[in-house]
Amino acid sequence: MFNTLKPAPPDPILGLTEAWREDPNPQKVNLGVGVYKDDGGRTPVLEAVKAAEAALLAAETTKTYLPIAGDPDFRRRVQAFVFEGPAETAGPRAVTLQTPGGTGALRVGAEFVRFAAPDARVWLSAPTWPNHAGVFSAAGMEASAYPWYDAAAHRLDTAEMLAALRAVPAGDVVVLHACCHNPSGADPAPEQWLEIAAAAADAGWLPFLDAAYLGFARGLVQDRAATEAFAAAGVPFLQATSFSKNLALYGERVGALTFVGPDEGTAATALSQLQRIVRVLYSNPPIHGAAVAARVLGDRLLRARWEEELTAMRERIHAVRGELVDGLAARGVPGDFSFLRTQQGMFSFSGLSDEAVARLRTEKAIYIVKGGRINVAGLTRGNLDYVCDSIAEVLGAPG
Ligand SMILES: Cc1ncc(COP(=O)(O)O)c(C=O)c1O
Repeated sequence: MFNTLKPAPPDPILGLTEAWREDPNPQKVNLGVGVYKDDGGRTPVLEAVKAAEAALLAAETTKTYLPIAGDPDFRRRVQAFVFEGPAETAGPRAVTLQTPGGTGALRVGAEFVRFAAPDARVWLSAPTWPNHAGVFSAAGMEASAYPWYDAAAHRLDTAEMLAALRAVPAGDVVVLHACCHNPSGADPAPEQWLEIAAAAADAGWLPFLDAAYLGFARGLVQDRAATEAFAAAGVPFLQATSFSKNLALYGERVGALTFVGPDEGTAATALSQLQRIVRVLYSNPPIHGAAVAARVLGDRLLRARWEEELTAMRERIHAVRGELVDGLAARGVPGDFSFLRTQQGMFSFSGLSDEAVARLRTEKAIYIVKGGRINVAGLTRGNLDYVCDSIAEVLGAPG
């Protein structure tokens, strides 16, 4: 039965971390991994999370199953969080389910779209997070690409992107990164989100927002620009919200899927179908992380502490971007890397060729995803000079 079984190719991102772990070089640096690191190279548990956990542990009385759609308190608080401020108007026609991480939300959403509109195609930005293609194809959907990033100019390709989105057929689905586009770090400005939302309304396609990094670009309020644009346009849309990065709950698998329907009745019907989908995928979601997130979102002091910690993460990322640009310039590395300063979130396309990426790995034990995506949060006081020196050497800066 299993004689013809062949090994699956390693995951392009998680596989790289495995290789880095096994590398005996003491100077090794992992710029491939998709988690935030502090200046000591650690991914700590947030203080707000620790405090919420302590309170929960003291009050816990049971580990019994959650409902299929998840913790009701979490669902309410996440929906309020997603639609805080100007997007509030979309609240009444929205339903939110707890999911295992943002990936779980994407997969449940993909299954839902496939069920509701079996012929719909999914449109993914070029480039995008590699797992998007896998998740939507696992749900049986065919994927097409729309332009996003102008690699030569190191910026969002606004004109090409908008032209392509205006031509997406009605009834298809378009996945958009709500902020901190992974892998490019190139985000639309708020007025460009309005143009994208107008394209959705005019052409009749369904936006699917992937919000995996809320709070990592400009702040929780500013990073809602995409949600606000689609809410204001009055179109139905889906949003996958992950708390893996912004609450640093990674392995607790905390996410949510929000469906905004054309009206309240459709949203309620959609919820029943979403629950049916979840029942056969994983039955019901895990308890702990969602209870923690609900508590942090709902408690005034914990929420304030969390926002401070999130601000510190965001500011470190912005600072390290500047230090990398300055470090490369100081070493006379050929090329202008100033674009790294304006990109948002943990990820950037460094512009490093696949050949340079390969040399950095074999000669310097610096691990970067093929294509040149770097996680700038992997840079610390302890490794920044080494990384800048190594890039200078590989790119042939004057000694
Ligand atoms: C763009 C994007 N979407 C979704 C996810 C999934 O996040 P989670 O770990 O919550 O499943 C990630 C994680 O790296 C991501 O980068």
